[in-house]
Amino acid sequence: MAKIQKRFVCQSCGSVSSRWQGQCPDCSEWNTILEEAPSQATPFSAKHNLQGGGRAIQLVGLDADIALPERMQTGIAELDRALGGGFVEGSATLIGGDPGIGKSTLLLQAAARLAMAGRSVAYVSGEEAADQVRLRARRLGLGQAPVRLAAATSVRDILTTLSIGTPPALLVIDSIQTMHSDLIEGAPGTVSQVRASGQELIRFAKERGTALVLVGHVTKDGSIAGPRVLEHMVDTVLAFEGERSHQYRILRAIKNRFGGTDEIGVFAMQTEGLTEVGNPSSLFLTNREEGMTGATVFPALEGTRPVLVEIQALTVRLASGATPRRAVVGWDTGRLAMILAVLEARCGLSFSSAEVYLNIAGGYRVQDPAADLAVAAALVSALSERPVPAEAIVFGEIALSGEIRTVAHGPLRLKEAAKLGFEKAIVPRAMAGDDGGMGMTGFRTLAEFVDHMLGRG
Ligand code: TYD
Ligand code: MG
Repeated sequence: MAKIQKRFVCQSCGSVSSRWQGQCPDCSEWNTILEEAPSQATPFSAKHNLQGGGRAIQLVGLDADIALPERMQTGIAELDRALGGGFVEGSATLIGGDPGIGKSTLLLQAAARLAMAGRSVAYVSGEEAADQVRLRARRLGLGQAPVRLAAATSVRDILTTLSIGTPPALLVIDSIQTMHSDLIEGAPGTVSQVRASGQELIRFAKERGTALVLVGHVTKDGSIAGPRVLEHMVDTVLAFEGERSHQYRILRAIKNRFGGTDEIGVFAMQTEGLTEVGNPSSLFLTNREEGMTGATVFPALEGTRPVLVEIQALTVRLASGATPRRAVVGWDTGRLAMILAVLEARCGLSFSSAEVYLNIAGGYRVQDPAADLAVAAALVSALSERPVPAEAIVFGEIALSGEIRTVAHGPLRLKEAAKLGFEKAIVPRAMAGDDGGMGMTGFRTLAEFVDHMLGRG
């Protein structure tokens, strides 16, 4: 008998090696490699030829008729928006997020809504006892919703149960890391268990036309734990984000085989569960006072949705020759270093003896490059102790040459700002003509803008 090969699998990236190592050679994570059950010998050995003996499949043109799968709207508009119009029959959706962010709450609310609308809904919790889920449902005022609830972790038990009678329209599995398939060995949560359980559940969903939702935990680096593999298997991947210390939560589509990935859903976590936030800007703007230095308002764009956020900067002069700190919350550190370098090299402003702190209010994370000018304005304002007008918004991308570049969706940003009562906009020169119904000042270079702020010639 051939010697059984040992198999070691990295629990972080899924790479397979033949011996144990302290550090994964693929993803460089430490202590993530575990021994797993040896793989079964494949029935296909080299002598098989795959070019015959199969069934001929039908090849069709791109212009053939399409039967679009039906969508189930949950009635929670922000969730439907992130999904691209609702859950799709016979599809699999993965929702990832930090523990305690509100995944179970959101899915319980969605499940209850669909159940009350007459759909058959099953909610399987592998993390909480049925009583705990029931208690939460009651607290959310959803105790009467006809959701079929179970606390189980065996995929075989779950699928056996659901195969009896009509399959549910929506099946929620909370979470995939607690599920266990007896087809293979290994503890729940290992890559091979997650992959096998996921595969079985997804197969059931596709065959029976059930919309499957898998909850996935997230590792500290933000990817869905272990099962990168899972992201490839499902149709839609949603990320549920937010700071636990803040109220707001953003549901973002990362992958969507049935729609776009540029829409977000915004929620607020309250005592009565997650409530929808139709107007996110109101959430992130603090009370603005005239004459405050170091603060600007930036119209960020999330997909096609503008969100107004406040950017705050603080500079502290250091007397000694110590290396000054740069601390950033909600923005990219490298990008801050770049803006500081441009301010120094192109505009003659020195931050080298000052500590610089940058913060995006409300715990929001800005990724939009159009924030450059707003950040620069906040920095200049903090350093010079001159306020940026409180009724102005600022946006534009800054090049290393000091030039202020145009950015996408100017009109959309201006419209949102006008809606919230802003009257002025500081923008790239080339965009100053865009009609947004407000007073616009355009600048071609950062030096021009700095001169304007400091009242220099
Ligand atoms: P939960 O949905 O259990 O998070 P996850 O499933 O992502 O781990 O949410 C847990 C947190 O949400 C918990 O810390 C308490 C808070 N919460 C509220 O503030 N209000 C509510 O109505 C509910 C149900 C939870
Ligand atoms: Mg949970």
